[in-house]
Amino acid sequence: MIQRPRRLRGNAALRKMVRETRVDKSSLIYPLFVREGSGIREEILTMPGQYRYSIDRMPEKLEQLKNAGIDKVILFGIPDEKDEVGSGAYAENGVIQKALREARKQFGSDLYLITDVCMCEYTSHGHCGVLCGLEVDNDPTLELLARTALSHVQSGADMVAPSDMMDGRVLAIRNKLDAYRFTGTPIMSYAVKYASGFYGPFREAAGSAPAFGDRKTYQMDYHNRKEGIKEALTDVEEGADIVIVKPALAYQDIIREVADLVEVPVAAYSVSGEYSMVKAGAQLGFVEEEKMIAEMAVGAFRAGASVYITYFAEEVAGLMDLGVIG
Ligand code: PBG
Repeated sequence: MIQRPRRLRGNAALRKMVRETRVDKSSLIYPLFVREGSGIREEILTMPGQYRYSIDRMPEKLEQLKNAGIDKVILFGIPDEKDEVGSGAYAENGVIQKALREARKQFGSDLYLITDVCMCEYTSHGHCGVLCGLEVDNDPTLELLARTALSHVQSGADMVAPSDMMDGRVLAIRNKLDAYRFTGTPIMSYAVKYASGFYGPFREAAGSAPAFGDRKTYQMDYHNRKEGIKEALTDVEEGADIVIVKPALAYQDIIREVADLVEVPVAAYSVSGEYSMVKAGAQLGFVEEEKMIAEMAVGAFRAGASVYITYFAEEVAGLMDLGVIG
């Protein structure tokens, strides 16, 4: 008996017709580092191809993204001065607040501006909240995070993304925004954020490595799956409109499970270490960069993400233009 092929065979057009996972540029968010100073575009040592921009040079990058079809960014701020209570995070003239006003002025509503809400780039000790002794003090931190989120929105942010992992911060931010009539401004929370070695290059990029200890008391243990589900459900209950799972690459099971369980969209954050690993491998000639970028992106969407935050956003968009993915 002649065996029929088990899977649909045929040319590229046919294979593309029956793809189960579709990706679109509108689902991509690019993380951008903004710093104080002027005329600066400095390459990040641990992330070749990624730069810190001073506010006056940021628009050239935003323009480039827009031309590639990417209209969403998440901004990370690098202040000149840090202190114990991270006051640069919520200052009227903080680096992010100024960057938001500038981006809004130049791009109007053509760009969707998201901000990372955290304290670690602004505290002298590099932890994600204020300290009590050597521990991060959860509740006093909530008010500062809420103030930070509010000041971002007042400066033009379309959406805020708290990444600190304090308990109760989504509710605190929601209440603060509502009290100031920003009821329609969504919160994308880093709900499922594991304590991860994959954040290493970011901490160099943002100068936010903790001066002592680690983040294991507030970020999650990667042995745990159910804990991740609980975090996601709790954040949704507190008012999160989108939940982030982070990192993406070693956590696709979590993306899938959260996507199946929660009633809000899931964003997968392909973090700095995922980027640097591919870049370093490619620079050594050990791996084919484009192919890996394509698989990582499609893998996140296949796992259930409807939003993908990636330093490779332009490359992913380019692969879509070529029809390699999409
Ligand atoms: C701030 C924050 C971090 C990342 C996003 N927001 C660093 C951290 O938690 O140490 C990591 C992003 C990346 O690695 O690309 N808390």
